Amino acid sequence: MWSGCYAPNASTRMRAVDLIRKKRDSGELSREEIDFLVSGYTRGEIPDYQMASWLMAAWIRGLNRAEIAALTEAMLHSGEVLSHSEIPGKKVDKHSTGGVGDKTSLILAPIVSAGGLTVPMISGRGLGHTGGTLDKLEAIPGFNVNLSLAEFRRVLRECGMGLIGQTAEIAPADKKIYALRDVTSTVENVGLICASIMSKKLAEGIDALVLDVKTGSGAFMKKEEDSVRLAEVMVETGKRVGKKVVALITNMDQPLGRMAGHSNEVWESIEVLKGQGPPDLRELSLELSAWMFFLGARTPGVEEGRRLAETMVATGQALEKFRQGIRLQGGDERVVDEPGRLPQARFHAQVVSPAAGFIDVANCEQLGTALAMLGGGREKKEDKIDPAVGLEFHKRIGDRVGKNEKLVTIHYNSDAKLTEAKNLIGNSYVVSERAPLEKRPLVRRIIGA
Ligand code: URA
Repeated sequence: MWSGCYAPNASTRMRAVDLIRKKRDSGELSREEIDFLVSGYTRGEIPDYQMASWLMAAWIRGLNRAEIAALTEAMLHSGEVLSHSEIPGKKVDKHSTGGVGDKTSLILAPIVSAGGLTVPMISGRGLGHTGGTLDKLEAIPGFNVNLSLAEFRRVLRECGMGLIGQTAEIAPADKKIYALRDVTSTVENVGLICASIMSKKLAEGIDALVLDVKTGSGAFMKKEEDSVRLAEVMVETGKRVGKKVVALITNMDQPLGRMAGHSNEVWESIEVLKGQGPPDLRELSLELSAWMFFLGARTPGVEEGRRLAETMVATGQALEKFRQGIRLQGGDERVVDEPGRLPQARFHAQVVSPAAGFIDVANCEQLGTALAMLGGGREKKEDKIDPAVGLEFHKRIGDRVGKNEKLVTIHYNSDAKLTEAKNLIGNSYVVSERAPLEKRPLVRRIIGA
């Protein structure tokens, strides 16, 4: 319980400093107080240092359900809430809480739009050790993620999918707060993640949303019970405003697929759209697409959704849709057939196994941090990403490995932090004499079905 001596209320002029103190002392903020903070920060009246302090207090003390709802709605209404009523049919999206090598958006947006639904996707940039869809798309020469709303609608009408970043109009509060959280270590918190994701997703003008909530060493939520709580809060938030929402709790104990890094991930996504690519990435992309088809009422069940998704890949329709989407957003569609047109790293280095045995554990977050260190992520808001930098993973948990056999190939351009990154990658793996007993399934639970 809050035991502070001063509580701002409607009759007292609100001040950010009092709201920081209130949260610091475990108080519960009212809807009006949260609105005051969010609108003041968005307008530039509350400075970064006060917002950062409040975020840290919220991170440490936590936010209850009422505060999370108020924060989400304040951030949602900080900008425009889109409606695409002029576009016939259902609009459906997917959002992931973030991981390493998680590139499913690039795969399922073309699958689902090829299958007849509209996917108006507003995505984010890399955050902490995780990659971001916008940064990945920008590895495609010319690809423009900064479309105006009018252009976004034109692309959606023409091809059924559009992938953009937050404009100044859509959830501008999240845009500012997200960038601040990334560099103040205030990311991994159920309330803050829920408000961030749901404010931009609810602003997109969608009917239904599939959430991919990651759990494990490469996720923001390492423990499954925390991921489940996050999923429940997000599903509840979406349903409260009348959307169909389901959350899949999926494994992030190791990178998804064989590739991480921006060019690498675009290439691997194209492989899956061609019916190839690694089984885990293919499996998760089809499963998420199946749920999107079902929630968008395109198919009567998830099984039928799955078959439709498989057909879109097998017939090449999803790949053609991706090509069209790239073209309409100004990108060089030739990357689909000529991946060498994606930015390429000049150098390669190997990290090898120190012993023979079985891969038992991978510290997935450290792998993401190593990638960021090499230039594939940001340490400060203004850092530029090198899209050519990447990691190629040769082994998965449970695989047999020989002494000095390759674990990871590093694609890099600058060796400034190569030794540090190599050590971090090497230390991310535990090699045991015996194969791990438990094989963790990729989709662990479904919330809100
Ligand atoms: N993705 C988001 O959009 N926001 C978060 O806070 C975390 C992941």
